[in-house]
Amino acid sequence: MNLRKGIILAGGTGSRLWPVTIPVCKQLLPVFNKPMIYYPLTTLLLAGIKDILIITTSESIENFKNLLGDGSKFGINLEYKVQMEPKGIAEAFIIAKEFIGENSCALILGDNIFYGSGFSELLLNKSSNHNRATLFASYVNDPENFGICEFFNDDTPKRIVEKPKSFISNWAITGLYFYDQDIVKIAEEIKPSGRGELEISEVNQIYLENKNLEVYKFSRGYAWLDAGTNENLLKASQFVQTVEELQGLKIGCPEEVAWRMGLISSEELEKLISDYKEVDYATYLRSILNDT
Ligand code: DAU
Repeated sequence: MNLRKGIILAGGTGSRLWPVTIPVCKQLLPVFNKPMIYYPLTTLLLAGIKDILIITTSESIENFKNLLGDGSKFGINLEYKVQMEPKGIAEAFIIAKEFIGENSCALILGDNIFYGSGFSELLLNKSSNHNRATLFASYVNDPENFGICEFFNDDTPKRIVEKPKSFISNWAITGLYFYDQDIVKIAEEIKPSGRGELEISEVNQIYLENKNLEVYKFSRGYAWLDAGTNENLLKASQFVQTVEELQGLKIGCPEEVAWRMGLISSEELEKLISDYKEVDYATYLRSILNDT
């Protein structure tokens, strides 16, 4: 059976957040009450992915290991690799070549946060198709800052352009990508762009030309946040705080999702709670455990 492997890309220089990210990597900064990486990690768990590679810088790798360990506390397998320099998002697949093997794979950018009703079912559904690529598009008002997809009238994708200089559409390709087992071969074939990066948009354009690409447009019920700038990091924190306080439920809580998905038992969750002692995060986990 084809397994879907997961990759979280958590490297880069974080230069848009300097000086904050000089001593600490962006994906470890807090988004309201949790490290940023908890959100993409939870997204992969919700997609049913249990084998995950975290790619980061040589300076940060130990910090991620300290935080997340080998994944056993979430009932999953976590591995780590270094990207020596930020040579492009698509380099992730070359770094992950052995890890992916003959399997399909999902990549999520470590600063991307997704939220929406029915998101888990959507992810499980898209993730279960191992024979094509699936991308998720979200409407934005600043298309010059993203990989952008232009669509035909029937909503099939026409072309994908990275940070287009002139307007082609408002639909941004978000940082969550599902690929089939050809992904490594395709990433190895592309050449660095003018800015010296292996561009994810070029990979996506190849899938599109091979007629093996679905681009799913998020409806209004979904929120997608790219927390890569000071403004967006603050907005993401405010968004998480507002939704959590209104609902009384946390967003991006991997312990909760691992337990709800049956990856860890109630006893194992209990043990994590006692390790966290009396902090708010532990109180929350105890409340969901006692609720059922
Ligand atoms: O957020 C979605 C957008 O992400 C897509 O619409 C674009 O197509 C895609 O290129 C990307 O655009 P960004 O301008 O956000 O890319 P950035 O270079 O900031 O990289 C995104 C994240 O990936 C960032 O947190 C750092 C990390 N990264 C990036 C590169 C290029 C790495 O870890 N290694 C890298 O080599």
